[in-house]
Amino acid sequence: MSTAIRDGKYRCPQCSGADFDITSTRWTCTGCGRAYACVAGMPKLFLDERLGAHDRKLRDTFYDGLFGQFYQVMMPVIVMPVRPWSLAWPYWLAYGVTWLVLVGLAVAGVTLLMTPGEQGAALIPLGLLAALVLFLVRNRYLGWLMLLAAPLKWVQSGKPWRADESFADVHARVLEPLRTAGRRLQVLDVSTGSCNSLYRHGWMSLDADYTAIDLSETMLKQGNAAMAGYGVGVDLVLGDAVDLPFQPDRFDVVLSYGAVNGLTDPAKAIAEMARVAKPGGVLLFLDEQMYPSAGPIERAYFHRVLSSHNVIHHCPVESFPASLTEVTVAQVYQFYYICTARKAA
Ligand SMILES: C[S@@+](CC[C@H](N)C(=O)[O-])C[C@H]1O[C@@H](n2cnc3c(N)ncnc32)[C@H](O)[C@@H]1O
Ligand SMILES: [Zn+2]
Repeated sequence: MSTAIRDGKYRCPQCSGADFDITSTRWTCTGCGRAYACVAGMPKLFLDERLGAHDRKLRDTFYDGLFGQFYQVMMPVIVMPVRPWSLAWPYWLAYGVTWLVLVGLAVAGVTLLMTPGEQGAALIPLGLLAALVLFLVRNRYLGWLMLLAAPLKWVQSGKPWRADESFADVHARVLEPLRTAGRRLQVLDVSTGSCNSLYRHGWMSLDADYTAIDLSETMLKQGNAAMAGYGVGVDLVLGDAVDLPFQPDRFDVVLSYGAVNGLTDPAKAIAEMARVAKPGGVLLFLDEQMYPSAGPIERAYFHRVLSSHNVIHHCPVESFPASLTEVTVAQVYQFYYICTARKAA
């Protein structure tokens, strides 16, 4: 049995139509007849053939790959050098053990090689060492992390830093007026992944309906499970941030955490966020950007690890659409900005 969706929220990526007949496995646009498959009940509202090359590559090799499957572990590993010891110590422990294993295998291999009659046995530690090194070379950001984490921590410990406006203050500034809006709000989280940021940063305190979109099935399935676990209702959609499958002027709040800089066309993605925001609606997005006084080790960590998958490495204010006003960019951490803006009423 199919149900008709005629609420005008969604947009067919092929014909821009707003009406769909839906079943649990398929959404069919009544305008052009294009059928969109569902994964775990979530419609795939994008045209694979139209995805940008970088978006496709990131999805296939990164977010639908090992990184995405182990996202909850991998993300804290990558930011380990810039997090407080109290949060990051288990990852430092794993880092120390990994170095011990690498050095231990090298020492064992060389010692056996130099011991008469034991050269054959050296193949075991040296083979294991080669496999580990090959893994770190293939996943280059992890190789660089191994090299840079400890020096970076040392450099940063002697260089205290304070944000002009903190992560919490930016959120409080945006959230406060929304809490007293006096009507039910529509909130969209673009590139929501595991829905971690949508759930954690205060957005759940609003009287709101939540919609969240991501291109990766691996990531969005985690978001689906997490939000179901928290008991939060959210409309989840598989789709492309660069071509949002929503009608214009739909959302009071449009968010995105950790994705804009890595998209094929960040400027188009921001234009899309502005398009789907209501007049007067708020945009807030966070991504990587280096603080101005970063030294060479911090720059190496930023470019080779944290921002290595990105297309751009700063907030692209220079290419914002004219519809965005009240733009602020706050360097909330040494390596992250938050941008807030309002769509002109
Ligand atoms: C670093 S993760 C951030 C996830 C989440 N926002 C958070 O804060 O934990 C980046 C997310 O962007 C998604 N993404 C990458 N390219 C995308 C695209 N073209 N359209 C939609 N999402 C995309 C990835 O699948 C991934 O879930
Ligand atoms: Zn259509």
